[in-house]
Amino acid sequence: SFVNQLGDERIAPAALVPSLLRLSAHSGVTLPLDLFEGRRNTAGLDPTSADMATSLQAAWITADLATPPETAVDDIGQIVDTLAAAQRGWNALAVEARADILDRAADALERDLPLWCALIVREGHRTWADAIPEVREAADFCRYYAQQAREWMATRTLRSITGERNTWRLRGRGVWACISPWNFPLAIFAGQVVAALVTGNTVAAKPAEQTPGVAARFIALLHDCGVPRDVLIGVYGAGDTGAALVAHPQIAGVAFTGSTAVAKVIARTLAGKDGPIVPLIAETGGINAMIVDATALLEQVVDAVVQSTFRSAGQRCSALRLLCVQEDMADGLLEMLRGAIGLLRVGAPSDLASDLGPVIDAEALAKLQQQIAQLEQQARLIARAELPADLANGIAPVAFEIDAIEHAGEEIFGPVLQVVRWRGEIEPVVERINALGYGLTLGVQTRIDQRASQIADSAHAGNVYINRNMIGAVVGVQPFGGEGLSGTGPKAGGPLYLTRFCSESTLSINT
Ligand code: SER
Repeated sequence: SFVNQLGDERIAPAALVPSLLRLSAHSGVTLPLDLFEGRRNTAGLDPTSADMATSLQAAWITADLATPPETAVDDIGQIVDTLAAAQRGWNALAVEARADILDRAADALERDLPLWCALIVREGHRTWADAIPEVREAADFCRYYAQQAREWMATRTLRSITGERNTWRLRGRGVWACISPWNFPLAIFAGQVVAALVTGNTVAAKPAEQTPGVAARFIALLHDCGVPRDVLIGVYGAGDTGAALVAHPQIAGVAFTGSTAVAKVIARTLAGKDGPIVPLIAETGGINAMIVDATALLEQVVDAVVQSTFRSAGQRCSALRLLCVQEDMADGLLEMLRGAIGLLRVGAPSDLASDLGPVIDAEALAKLQQQIAQLEQQARLIARAELPADLANGIAPVAFEIDAIEHAGEEIFGPVLQVVRWRGEIEPVVERINALGYGLTLGVQTRIDQRASQIADSAHAGNVYINRNMIGAVVGVQPFGGEGLSGTGPKAGGPLYLTRFCSESTLSINT
């Protein structure tokens, strides 16, 4: 056991970590029943429980992942023209008809959860413990946006102080390009697409080139649930395909999740086009920090750090990258962290015993190896987990100590933690984190409530998590998204998200 700064003696979290990392994937996602009309059921979602393990195993054997053919860049014009022609009719439907389709899709995802998990594990190399909440999240996006659309898209009658009858309503804008990443091959893809559809837009859906199979399957599901084929069309390929799509003159909006650099390229393309000003919803990365002070509960901190840094092999935009620890307790925390990292099990994603799987592909691995080699030169190694020799694209979870927040460099999209010590006042620490320019997630670990509020007030961060981990935002409960280099907003899974997909229309009738 370890003794923390306040003299509390506690169990070393290292002993708890492997099971925590696996099992908490399905906890903490219980939503208020009224949000989803009582239909959310979190029972039986432990991947290691006998029933679930059997279902997952059966799905793993039978899951059939078909990769769709790449879309020829020359075909994109025709695809967008088709979508543009279909938009008026789709937009004219009662919102209820579109929202009902989303509810049916959510039902189907929940019914076939093991199948969707198997597809995600197979193509996205995510663990079962990551895949289960991802399917839940996709279903949540469907239900939440269905509910939000019913609320927001009803025509509202406004005050008539001028003697006229005034109404206001939201309508779809036209054809949206939805461009999504490989790290949540189902949930992020689904969230963008169903938001654009339910608001009356038609959609060219371009998943990451690494995960087209899961996306194509979800498109087929939406078609089966009632979305016409000329209202939603998949566009498959690499960056040049996405670039051609964004550049098409008929694109009325772009929803993009991915890197900051690509978001800026898209913004420049949209700004340079003739015709209307086209909105962009960009959700990008972050150098996400956690600030820990000497009053924090060390075992809570270590659990939160391990979850936030290493779950999903660090391939989440929300993941912790920079741990800022008050000097007084840094040595004790690093000792515990060393123990916890040493216990992490890296392995095949389909193996229930794996805490984390490999990274997505050889290109990602090469980039990470380069970034780690640089840290090996410039920083001090704290701990590195073991890596099985035969795991393709496997990478050992690792932590380094650096000398200053400013040395954090660029975002490292993998299981790599940088730790820095701070002393003195808290405000300069927050300012230096803000100065990195990102603003996605921020963790705070303190038992001083006033300090937590002070940090939350002065931090530039879209999602601040106090005394817990900083990943796994829940749809409708923790609207998710950042500011600055981390994105434009509005937040996914939040009450304003749908409004950005819409144009507003005010009607004034002289009665
Ligand atoms: N929404 C995810 C999370 O909160 C990241 O994309 O972890």
